[in-house]
Amino acid sequence: MSNFANAAMNNTVLEAKDIYKSFTDGKSTVDVIKGLSLQIQQGEFVSIVGSSGSGKSTLLHILGGLDRPTEGLVNLNGKRFDNLGEAERGFLRNEHLGFVYQFHHLLPEFTALENVAMPLMLRKDADFKQVKQRAEFLLERVGLTHRLTHQPGELSGGERQRVALARALVTQPKLMLADEPTGNLDRKTATSIFELLRELREEFNMAMLIVTHDEQLAKSADRILHMQDGLWIDA
Ligand SMILES: Nc1ncnc2c1ncn2[C@@H]1O[C@H](COP(=O)(O)OP(=O)(O)O)[C@@H](O)[C@H]1O
Ligand SMILES: [Mg+2]
Repeated sequence: MSNFANAAMNNTVLEAKDIYKSFTDGKSTVDVIKGLSLQIQQGEFVSIVGSSGSGKSTLLHILGGLDRPTEGLVNLNGKRFDNLGEAERGFLRNEHLGFVYQFHHLLPEFTALENVAMPLMLRKDADFKQVKQRAEFLLERVGLTHRLTHQPGELSGGERQRVALARALVTQPKLMLADEPTGNLDRKTATSIFELLRELREEFNMAMLIVTHDEQLAKSADRILHMQDGLWIDA
């Protein structure tokens, strides 16, 4: 059976097989990911927990097509993804994936509305009026109707992360990849952002892979993976 048919039957959104990643700086090589496999099903919520430096961000970058593995393969919706060129990976990312980071990565010169609209505006067939409506809807959903024309510098940390969530969701991705999305927030704000993430995942029926230091937050996932030194370990 082809990979495509197989993934379609299993409803596998993302599949990574035997991933290795090394960084070389001329003299020395650092092995960061040392043979990891992972499958995420449609609508599934998976968390990855591991101490700093264990390779979580490196793995997430590979899964999201932002970087390439040294060895192994990544299938997105049953289609091999890691060996495609930069432009094609960018297109598939925009089509199927949403990203949230520890630091919001919003564009400082643009308003909340423009930041959220951006992923849709980048599409060839973008209809400005529809995109604006969709972005407004998402910002309303994350509780920021009163902040549409504010720039990131005029927002609180929690508000900025809400804008980042709205931006990640505006394309209705199949899978959200989140790297320490609450890591830079105080406890109370972190909890409210995490609750919002969980609600939105159900509402939008998307799969979510979240990296977090926080065992308590990680526990609400369907499945927790523990990572140490580039490998899965038993908790
Ligand atoms: N571009 C890079 N070049 C060299 N080493 C890197 C690079 N990116 C990450 N590393 C190393 O890989 C290891 C894991 O990093 P990272 O994936 O950021 O871990 P985590 O997100 O779990 O804290 C670290 O030792 C880090 O220094
Ligand atoms: Mg990291």
